[in-house]
Amino acid sequence: MQGNITLTMIKPDAMRSGYIGKILDHIVSGGFSIRAAKVLHLTHYQAEKFYLVHKDRPFYRDLVEFMSSGPILAAVLEKENAVDAFRQLIGSTDPAKAETGTIRNLYGASIQENAVHGSDSDENALIEAAFFFNQFERV
Ligand code: CMP
Repeated sequence: MQGNITLTMIKPDAMRSGYIGKILDHIVSGGFSIRAAKVLHLTHYQAEKFYLVHKDRPFYRDLVEFMSSGPILAAVLEKENAVDAFRQLIGSTDPAKAETGTIRNLYGASIQENAVHGSDSDENALIEAAFFFNQFERV
C-alpha cells in the first residue's frame, strides 16, 4: 500500500530567489495538504545527517555546503500516493531534464540547486518527516 505523506524542502536557492510563495502555491494547487511547515537554517551537521545516504557520492560535500548556505522551508505534505505524486509534480533531479511545468523545470537552477527536495520512498518520507517535526508539530 502506498503511503500518504512525503517530506519536502524548498532549498536555499529557491528561498534566495523569492520563489517560496510560487512553489507553495504550486504544491497546494497540485492537491497536497500541508500538515506541517517551518522555515529554518540547517547547520552543516544537520545537512550532513539529512543527506547521510549520499555520503559516498562525489557531490556530497558540495551538497552539504549548499543546503546549509541559507534558510530552507521544510514541510510534510499529504496526498494519496504522496511520494510518487510529489515526484511527478517536481520533475527530474536535473532541472534541465525536468518535464515542462514541473517545479524544478520552472524554478531549479542546476542539478544541485534544484529548488526542492522530495522523499524517494514511503520509508524515507517517515524518517525525513521525523527529522524535522515531532508529533505535536504535525496535524
Ligand atoms: P534531492 O532530491 O534533495 O536529493 C539529493 C540531492 O543531491 C539532489 O536533490 C540534488 O540537490 C543533489 N544531487 C543529486 N545528483 C547530483 C549531482 N550529480 N551533482 C550534484 N548534486 C546532485
